Amino acid sequence: MTIFTYKDEEALGAVLSVDTAMVIIKVADLDRLRRMQVNRLVVLQSSKAGQYLIGVVQKITRSSVEQELSVEQEGDPIEIESIMPQLNLVRVTLIGTLIDKVGTKENVFRRTLETVPEIDAKCFAVEGDILTSFMRVIANVTDEGQKLSLGHYTLDEDAEAYLNGNKFFQRHAIIVGSTGSGKSWTTARVLEQAAVLPSVNALVLNLHGEYAPMKGDGIKHYRVAGPGDLGNGKGLKDGVLYLPYWLLGYEALISMFVDRSDQNAPNQAMIIAREVVKMKRKFLGEKKADELLENFTIDSPVPFSMDELFQELNRLNTEMIPGAKAGTEKQGDFHSKLSRMIARLENKRTDRRLGFLFQAPVEANELSWLDELSRKLIAGTSLQSDKKGGVKIIDFSEVPSDILPLIVSLVGQLTFSLQQWTLLEKRHPIALFCDEAHLYIPLRSEGDAANEVSIKIFEKIAKEGRKYGVGLVIISQRPSEVNHTVLSQCNNLVAMRLTNAEDQSVVRKLLPDSLGGFGDVLPILDTGEALVVGDASLLPSRVRIKEPNSKPNSGTVDFWDKWSKSSCEDGIVEAVDAWRKQNLQ
Ligand SMILES: Nc1ncnc2c1ncn2[C@@H]1O[C@H](COP(=O)(O)OP(=O)(O)OP(=O)(O)O)[C@@H](O)[C@H]1O
Ligand SMILES: [Mg+2]
Repeated sequence: MTIFTYKDEEALGAVLSVDTAMVIIKVADLDRLRRMQVNRLVVLQSSKAGQYLIGVVQKITRSSVEQELSVEQEGDPIEIESIMPQLNLVRVTLIGTLIDKVGTKENVFRRTLETVPEIDAKCFAVEGDILTSFMRVIANVTDEGQKLSLGHYTLDEDAEAYLNGNKFFQRHAIIVGSTGSGKSWTTARVLEQAAVLPSVNALVLNLHGEYAPMKGDGIKHYRVAGPGDLGNGKGLKDGVLYLPYWLLGYEALISMFVDRSDQNAPNQAMIIAREVVKMKRKFLGEKKADELLENFTIDSPVPFSMDELFQELNRLNTEMIPGAKAGTEKQGDFHSKLSRMIARLENKRTDRRLGFLFQAPVEANELSWLDELSRKLIAGTSLQSDKKGGVKIIDFSEVPSDILPLIVSLVGQLTFSLQQWTLLEKRHPIALFCDEAHLYIPLRSEGDAANEVSIKIFEKIAKEGRKYGVGLVIISQRPSEVNHTVLSQCNNLVAMRLTNAEDQSVVRKLLPDSLGGFGDVLPILDTGEALVVGDASLLPSRVRIKEPNSKPNSGTVDFWDKWSKSSCEDGIVEAVDAWRKQNLQ
């Protein structure tokens, strides 16, 4: 069915001049001019039957009021005013073509301009029902299809804004905005729609516990074990997550144990590599895992004993070997060279904040434990033993910030590796929602080894994840501080209010060239309002995001109201106690 069924007399105006993707429309009267609004869509007649050109209004001028109309064109302004002093003019950027029928497909939208409009071609408004049907074509969704509804269009509140749920995750997305602009609510809105799908599969890296209130059968909560969890026997089934040290790859181990500034760093790294392989071999030998013995590497997730590693390092550090002359002794090759590393390792091993790495319950040091962990984290709802919780929200709030990038990227690595090693026909797509991404996928590593490891892993996921069914959703209030390689791989942008100029300029660069002007609205977006551009929504549009049912804890506190009360809660003693125990229970 044709979407655009306009009568000639409904035209708002007609084409006056054309310059590739930019068109000037002449509007006859003021009433019609008033129906035009910046950033609103219009449709233009094309020279080919059954085709329509779609444009976005960029600038509106009533020339009798505005005397100095000039149409800027890459450094070469054309003065139209001098030629036509009495015209109402509208500048439109063309963004694509709607074709009634291509083969058997009806209403196909292409982002290319198949033709350019002719002079005097008529221009019509796209609004109301027509806008709704048109937007459905854009999101390439049918009534039953892959529709992900964000909310409503700001300029036409009757039209529901859909995204194509396949495309949104296929080629990564970013959700950016200043603090309090509504990123977490938008994320919650996306998550709760995904959560009802019977085989949904997503991990949410939740850094401040914001998503804790989200409920529903499709959602499960995990928490990286904090100091208060150690030794109480709670594990995966209670939602307490241990990530034992043996899951760390070689580079992560080195970044944790070896101080690069130590002059013995190369020796230490070499010793770690050698000894860890030895310990892993010993473990596999004891478990009679012969097949694995032949094939494992230092990066293979195989348990090993930290105690034994520690003893061995101590032995090497104090080793005496026979000297050149019989009966004499000299220091071994690594004598005293490992002292600092050993001290570092000992510190970490006994640090209760790192208990989730080094003080996991014994059962977590078995080969089969990784199967269980992987199923919990990487399997979709229908593969979970209780058929619940394909959306896994992992709370990292108790992980110390210096090793946060290592631990978050460990989860990233686990996800990516498992997907990579799953047979193509059995691979089930998974989305990784990275909240506060600037904290662990920073622009530059600044010499920090943990950052380096994390950047590498997320860059890899950004570049190769699509092939293995791993979709990233990067969420950040500081896009200018998020790694640019990762950002540049994201093909969907949900930009909320952004006040900082640097952040705005990073987001502008992610907009297609012809839509540069769209970036101007970034600082004036309302809370909960977003600019949505990308693969999933072929048309750039401004959307008022609908409130999620279960709202994240975004902790917006009403200062004045609270201060105005005559009494308030006293939580000081508990806070001091919790701070000491490092445990908020
Ligand atoms: N779609 C929305 N509709 C109405 N109000 C909203 C919407 N989104 C957010 N808000 C309001 O804005 C507040 C902050 O939202 P949110 O927690 O999502 O911000 P944020 O961008 O995640 O901030 P931060 O970067 O600090 O985490 C919410 O508590 C809510 O009051
Ligand atoms: Mg937030």
